Amino acid sequence: MIVAANWKMNPGLSEAKKLASDYCTAAHKGVTRILFVPHPYIVPIRKRLQGSDILLGGQDCHQMQSGAHTGDVSAGMLQNCGASIVLLGHSERRAYYGETSELVAAKATMAFETGLSVMICVGETLAQRNSGDALATVLQQLTISVPVTLPTTALTIAYEPVWAIGTGKVATVAEITEMHTGIRHWLYSAGFGRTKILYGGSVNPRNAAEIFTVAHVDGALVGGASLISADFDGICAAAVA
Ligand code: 13P
Repeated sequence: MIVAANWKMNPGLSEAKKLASDYCTAAHKGVTRILFVPHPYIVPIRKRLQGSDILLGGQDCHQMQSGAHTGDVSAGMLQNCGASIVLLGHSERRAYYGETSELVAAKATMAFETGLSVMICVGETLAQRNSGDALATVLQQLTISVPVTLPTTALTIAYEPVWAIGTGKVATVAEITEMHTGIRHWLYSAGFGRTKILYGGSVNPRNAAEIFTVAHVDGALVGGASLISADFDGICAAAVA
């Protein structure tokens, strides 16, 4: 199982350092923990994670190796600073920065060629779900966002229904089952037999155990609850139960 924390644009540096240290005090055998932090925190948080088995990741990277891209961060910079993985195609980047699946694929290729693993996010909006297009939307995102050249073990997929992110609304077991089964079939047919699929969207210590019982759920991508170390620990504990 994988439990990944996406801190998004939170919290302040001193709180972030304390949070990372608190994560390290708990051991969760059998769970791979990943921490996606804001770019300026990669170096200070790496220091806090030293000696722990928690992996460190960036929340985005540019598709080019270097150049005149003010404000952007390259995969190589993330790697130089201690990240081993990068989160790509999060719905907030797709929605607020117009990131297309084609761009996500270009970023994924660059990240992998640089030596990073990639976690690619997919998920439908409420309108797409209500019109019966949820699965087709996600499969279309996968088809375009995932470069076929990526090795299966360098890739993780996070299914995050947009309407479940930060809303307290969690997809039902039936909805997660349908989606994760569909993603699993797509991955097998595309040659990604060993790629893991995480669920994300309002995961907390109270609903995690049920989500982890769903077929083809290999873990969780956690936003809000990852900012409270006891809640993140509770989700990790549910992953091994
Ligand atoms: P929440 O857990 O806050 O709903 O966020 C999920 C998410 O977007 C993680 O990437």
